[in-house]
Amino acid sequence: MSDTLTIIDNRTGKRYEVPIEYGTYPTYGAAIPTSDLRKIKVSDDDFGLLGYDPAFNNTASCKSAITHIDGERGILRYRGYPIEDLAANSSFLEVAYLIVHGELPTADALETWSWDILHHSIVHENIKKFMDGFRYDAHPMGILISTVAALSTFYPESKNIHDEAVRHEQMHRLIAKMPTIAALAYRHSEGYPYTYPDNDLSYCGNFLRMMFKMTERNYKPDPILEKVLDVVFILHVDHEQNCSANAMRSVGSSFPDPYVSIAAAAAGLYGPLHGGANEQVLRMLHEIGHIDHVPAYIKKVKNGDFRLMGFGHRVYKNYDPRARILKEMTPQVLDVTGKSPLLEIAVELERIALEDEYFIDRNLYPNVDFYSGIIYQAMGFPADMFSVLFAIPRTPGWLAQWAEMLEDPDQKIARPRQVYIGEDERAYVPVDKRG
Ligand code: CMC
Repeated sequence: MSDTLTIIDNRTGKRYEVPIEYGTYPTYGAAIPTSDLRKIKVSDDDFGLLGYDPAFNNTASCKSAITHIDGERGILRYRGYPIEDLAANSSFLEVAYLIVHGELPTADALETWSWDILHHSIVHENIKKFMDGFRYDAHPMGILISTVAALSTFYPESKNIHDEAVRHEQMHRLIAKMPTIAALAYRHSEGYPYTYPDNDLSYCGNFLRMMFKMTERNYKPDPILEKVLDVVFILHVDHEQNCSANAMRSVGSSFPDPYVSIAAAAAGLYGPLHGGANEQVLRMLHEIGHIDHVPAYIKKVKNGDFRLMGFGHRVYKNYDPRARILKEMTPQVLDVTGKSPLLEIAVELERIALEDEYFIDRNLYPNVDFYSGIIYQAMGFPADMFSVLFAIPRTPGWLAQWAEMLEDPDQKIARPRQVYIGEDERAYVPVDKRG
């Protein structure tokens, strides 16, 4: 047996051999270098064959050692560690270290890393003035994206992306400042005074304080909610080559500073088919309004009127393991915050959908966004903050993808090909001669 693929071009009768390359195990992915297809030509002046794959449905854009998903079996691992083990035993900052550095930190390394992140959480005072320029009803994700891009102008040295020390400093800053900017965006929209970070609190405890502190002298985040948010953040750290990670790599491949690349990645996340889905889930549950209305709603989904938000995934053809953990945690949150009528509707929606042929035939299961919105709403976050809450923990994932891309000798500036289907060359017609 040889690890090659033989292709016969029926136009010419010629045979070609292309190598097959494997992931960690052959079952983790096997690919042919599609650039080898260019050898397949009908004549010398032929451009050669391309792979046509809109939306990268079956194209590996990189080799990556960060995250492994087995969508058929519902498996998600960061750097080899099952998501269930990390959710049960780790903390967000530890997982952020793991994703960025590739290994779990020693106790000393974790302490230094946590100190570095927690002590970069403050933003330049000009950011506050910048924030004031947004309309009172600006979507916080629009504010987050623009403000992260603006950080580029505060740290001009960040352009030195090939200097590892500079790169790491920007990583600390980005992971540290995302919650601060997120909270500023929220408080701006509510007209509340801005709250400065408190480095004595945990990453999530500080974020909850910056979000929700009002006139209390000593705001103490609820320990259960603080812990749940930390786990929710762990679940969102990375998810291999999705739309936003691909944006991070693609924009980053022209070598701008990481702030503008993160802004591009966050813009990819903003859309309702990606990180904007949990906001849509909540709106959908409100629209359904009562469990009795669930069957009629499902009927409309099956008619193709709209999609069931929080269901389906390009990669998972099984229950999303993140959704399972979130579903299990939801009662803990509601014990603190009080019952949510939306949870009842969500559970009924899931029950009916999972028994329905339409969803079974298409392998449509709840994804991470199905339960996260219910948890966030119960914790007091408004729906338009949900995609922001996705962007905060995804930042270390984007940074790991970016650094891996920069260090990968196979990578170049992203530049897909196209198959041109427009007009062939034609003569210009002056305007007075056009009919
Ligand atoms: N509700 C109803 N039907 C659906 C849904 C859904 N949520 N998702 C897919 N389908 C149907 C789709 O209509 C198609 O049916 P048919 O073969 O009859 O035309 C079939 O399933 C395959 O759909 P697709 O659009 O080819 O699948 P995709 O892999 O391109 O889409 C998706 C993946 C996530 C964009 C899609 O499932 C979707 O729109 N889901 C709702 C939005 C959502 O929850 N997004 C969050 C994704 S998870 C968070 C993240 O990682 O970003």
